[in-house]
Amino acid sequence: MKKNIAVIKGDGIGPEIMAETVKVLNVVAEKFCHIFNYTYVLMGGIAIDETGEPLPKETVEKCLASDSVLLGAVGGPKWDKGEGSKRPEAGLLGIRSALNLFANIRPAKLLKPLASACPLKTEITDKGLDLVIVRELIGGAYFGEKRTFTDEKGNKTASDLMIYSDYEIERICRVAFDMAKKRRKKVTSIDKANVLDSSRLWREISHIVASEYPDVEFSHMLVDNAAMQLVRDPAQFDVIVTENLFGDILSDEASMITGSLGMIPSASLGMGSLGLYEPIHGSAPDIAGQNKANPIASILSAAMMLRYSFDMDREAKDVENAVDLVLEHGFRTADIMSEGKKLVSCSEMGDKIAEII
Ligand code: IPM
Ligand code: MG
Repeated sequence: MKKNIAVIKGDGIGPEIMAETVKVLNVVAEKFCHIFNYTYVLMGGIAIDETGEPLPKETVEKCLASDSVLLGAVGGPKWDKGEGSKRPEAGLLGIRSALNLFANIRPAKLLKPLASACPLKTEITDKGLDLVIVRELIGGAYFGEKRTFTDEKGNKTASDLMIYSDYEIERICRVAFDMAKKRRKKVTSIDKANVLDSSRLWREISHIVASEYPDVEFSHMLVDNAAMQLVRDPAQFDVIVTENLFGDILSDEASMITGSLGMIPSASLGMGSLGLYEPIHGSAPDIAGQNKANPIASILSAAMMLRYSFDMDREAKDVENAVDLVLEHGFRTADIMSEGKKLVSCSEMGDKIAEII
């Protein structure tokens, strides 16, 4: 198969981890007789520097014309002072919205070879830790009306409207239930229905969708309780579905309890097969350009792309197995290094994974 991939290297360690990802994809292409064409486009801080905009129009057009999009990471202290619309993050939000990627899939799984990095007690993790967060990505407070103004009493005031319509809740819930059917058949919908109207609507609609999936166990949980349950008993979760801001926060917590932030991929999907795939970690400007970064989250994101956008399940498994094997053989980048293991650089990690494939 021939596939066109738009590649956004981005800022910080983005270019380094993306180089390893393309290296791995090229061996996959060779092994399985595919052709992957890469079109490099600008977004984030580097786009601000080169074009004045975090998300140039050309980037959106080229991404829309591709079969899929790979993203390294965006942002860094250099661009932190800009106003909202001129920050690298605006590019990320803009591309999600422009490609209509409403579903963000973030798996959090305890990897056996890295179990010692998990901050939870073993009596908790012995029960397992393998969940997926399905986060609504283009609604809620991120995209509702934003205002900064002076109120009638002269107080400087700002607001971000958390707004959801029924169809937005329905489509994200369907993604979660369809995913649960292929897993342990359990969905937990997380909201703040004791306080927020948008959460009460979320509860109502998710309940209707759940009735269409009688074979999937369904429950609701308040977000504050969910934050606690994630560290108290994460084994109770299979698929979590939640709105944008709660999903942002809980997915960081979920990744932290696996002990391996640098290992976690994500997929952002819409109605069609076009998706955007990115590691959940940031651009790590402190180690940028030193060949120290861990490329595994980015490589696993590419595996998600093979599976979800290209329907190449065998190829995806091959990449995931290669990552497992490299870890089993004891190779570690600095972020996941522990005693007795073999320290490798970002490019060496890419080489090892590519060799196995
Ligand atoms: C994420 C990030 C982004 C978000 C930021 C960088 C805008 O935290 O992908 O989780 O909040 O969605
Ligand atoms: Mg986040």
